[in-house]
Order: sequence, then structure tokens, then C-alpha cells
Amino acid sequence: MDFFFRPRICYCSDDSFVSNFFITARRFGPGTVFLVRETGSPQLKDQMHDMRRTGALSRGRAKARGFIMMLMMVSSVLGQSKPRITKQPFGTADGKSVEIYTLKNIHGVEARIMTYGGTLVSLNVPDKNGNFGDVVLGFDSLADYQTAKGYLGALIGRYGNRIAKGTFRLDGKEYKLAVNNGVNHLHGGVKGFDKVVWTASPSVHKDGLHLLLTYLSRDGEEGYPGNLNVTVEYVLTEKNELKILYAATTDKPTIVNLTNHSYFNLAGAGSNTILDHQLTLNADHFTPTDDGSIPTGELRSVKGTPFDFTKSTAIGARIDQDDEQLKFGSGYDHNFVINKNGQALGLAATVYEVTSGRVMEVFTTQPGVQFYTGNFLDGSLKGKGGQNYPRRSGFCLETQHFPDSPNKPAFPSVVLRPGETYTQTTIYKFSVR
Ligand code: GLA
Repeated sequence: MDFFFRPRICYCSDDSFVSNFFITARRFGPGTVFLVRETGSPQLKDQMHDMRRTGALSRGRAKARGFIMMLMMVSSVLGQSKPRITKQPFGTADGKSVEIYTLKNIHGVEARIMTYGGTLVSLNVPDKNGNFGDVVLGFDSLADYQTAKGYLGALIGRYGNRIAKGTFRLDGKEYKLAVNNGVNHLHGGVKGFDKVVWTASPSVHKDGLHLLLTYLSRDGEEGYPGNLNVTVEYVLTEKNELKILYAATTDKPTIVNLTNHSYFNLAGAGSNTILDHQLTLNADHFTPTDDGSIPTGELRSVKGTPFDFTKSTAIGARIDQDDEQLKFGSGYDHNFVINKNGQALGLAATVYEVTSGRVMEVFTTQPGVQFYTGNFLDGSLKGKGGQNYPRRSGFCLETQHFPDSPNKPAFPSVVLRPGETYTQTTIYKFSVR
């Protein structure tokens, strides 16, 4: 007799958001499907979805098989935890309460996301020995998130990355944005999406644990035209993926470029530098910049330059070479042009850290990815658990449209008009080697 196991997650709308799963046992061959479900949460009883029972099993056979399946289920889930979402208060900002939501899948992978800045506060994933470690940099207190520079873990908008002199023209009209990076506009301005409190709504679905964040960016905020309704949905799947699904609509023509600014260290946040991490970027070109990190407009081939990560290479192997672009960025702080077709979801990057065996793959619908090696971290930030974060102890892969696109007509457009919906999807997938 063959059985087929299929873990399922069921909705649960009570306050604890505890979810559950059941196993489908199916005898191959005509006729029989038999379901066994875990019965730990009485509140789930009315909320089991998708339960099907077909074929005719005699009551006795069903009981016997049920018992066998229970045993198999217990062994198959040994060491796994129930997928769940919980929330904890984390202070107040702008007179609003701030919460941290904890999403934990059946493998024990856990993502903590805060409503301030829609920030990914921690991400615990296993190493090759099954030991869990937090692979993103962050802080222990809300006050640190509010005062520190560096956008650790935050959502970025309305425009991720730089806009030259904070100025752009749209439909013949010139707009002046907040200037917060020398003479340029960076990451949405003085009070970007990283510094506002988002409204959160958690739910558990078949594909994983969801946290939907919403924010209304008012017409004129940081100089941008149009009321922009933004949703960002974090989804932690049972395949150990953290998906981020962004969407936005507007009531006036505007520009949008949303991303997430997590700093990763696959050996564990606060460990060492990320210079030994092995990086592959699916990019034959990058966008070189001037000394203010504004793209010149050129798409330059990476061939023969320290920007060639088309084959797995240590991040630190060439980072201090005598190269003008590396000097401008104090290391890598550049947009790479992902080899892919239009809006399709494609592989942007793979990162491997040998001591932990952790692998992170990044998939995105976006045309570009900003590879930033934490060059401006200087050890002065007091991170989680009192760790300090030295220079280059985290790297960012900010999936995005190219910097300064509003002023570069040849770059893919970032204009959003009423009636259209902006979307972007990025997936960070974790595994081990
Ligand atoms: C981005 C920029 C960097 C730097 C960091 C935050 O990734 O490209 O130059 O400003 O944000 O420190």
C-alpha cells in the first residue's frame, strides 16, 4: 500500500492565529482518498477547508488505516512545529501602537515583521546542521529603529534608491522631492515608508503565513504627486521562502519603486563581515554611477571588471581593487541589470555561506537589484543582543527599478497612472548545501 503525504494549512480566524495542518493519505490506484487531520485546536473544527473524502472505505479499514496514518503523521512531523502567527507590542510611534508579528512555519523558520517601517526584524533559518540562526541585521528596540541610519530591514518607498537633485518631470510638470542624501533624494525622502506605521492584517493560507501591510501615502508626501495606496504582503511559505508582494494604486500620475532594505549575513547577524560569502548575480550589465551614486545612463558590461558575479565569487575577492566605480560606492553599492524578460519572475542572485552551508536565492519581477555591501556600517550601531555591526557585516540585495529612472528615459519606466496597478514580487528562498 502506498501513501501520499500532503501537509495542508487551514484558516483560523481566532486571535492567536494558530493554524494547523492535516495529512492527505491516498492509496494509489482507483478509488480511495483518506484524510487524517491533527485535532489539537477545537476552534479549527469549523474552519477546515479543502477536506475531501472520496471512495468507499469500510469503517474498520478506515479506522485501521487512520491509525497507521496517525503514526506515520506523528513520525513525519516529529521535530516540526505548528505553523503560526503571533503578535507582540513594540512601543509607539507617531502616537500609534507598533507591533511585531512573528510568522513561524512547520520547519521552525521564523520571520518577525514590525508595523513600523514594515521592517523585517529577524529571520531565523537553519544551517546545514539544523541549527537556527538569525540572518538579518536589526535592533532590539523601536527607538533604535527610529534613530539609526541605514534602513535596516525596512520597506522603502515611494522611490527606492536615488533621484538626482530630488527633481523629476512628469507630463510636463516639474516635481521637487525632499533632498536627504547630499543634493539627491534617497529612499523616499526624510520620512519614507521605512519611518511610518503600517496597518497589519495577518492570515494563514494554504501557501503559507501572510502578513498584509497597508499604507496610504498622501498627495504631496515628501513631494510626490497623488494619493498612493500601498499594500505589501509578506508570505512565509513551507518551502522556506520569504515572499514579498508589493502593490500600489494612485489617483494622479506619479512614480513608484518599492523595495526592502534587509541586510543579510548568512553566517548569522553580528558574526563577521560578509566578504567570504559566495555571490552569483544573474547580471551581464550594471549601471555605473557618478561620484554621487547617480547612474550615468550607461548599461556597462561586467566582463573583465570586479562587477562580474556571473560565476560564484567571494564578495570580498575584488572589493578593494583600484576601480573608480568601487571607489564611488566605497565598495559595491550598484544597480545590476538582471538578465531576464520584462516583468517575469526570474532569478537575480544566489548567495552561499560555506561555514553555515546556508544558501539564499533571490527571485524577482524587477529589472534591477542594488547590491550594497554595507559599506557605511561602521561598528557604531548597537545591534540585536548588543552585537555591533562592523563595516561590511551585512549585504543588501534590493530588488528594484534602476536608480534615477524618472530622469533616464531609456531606463524602464517607473510611472504609475490612475487606473493602473503597480506590482512587484520578490522571493528570498533559503536552503542548505
Ligand atoms: C542604499 C544606498 C546606499 C546607502 C544605503 C543605506 O542601499 O544605495 O548608498 O545609502 O542604502 O545606508
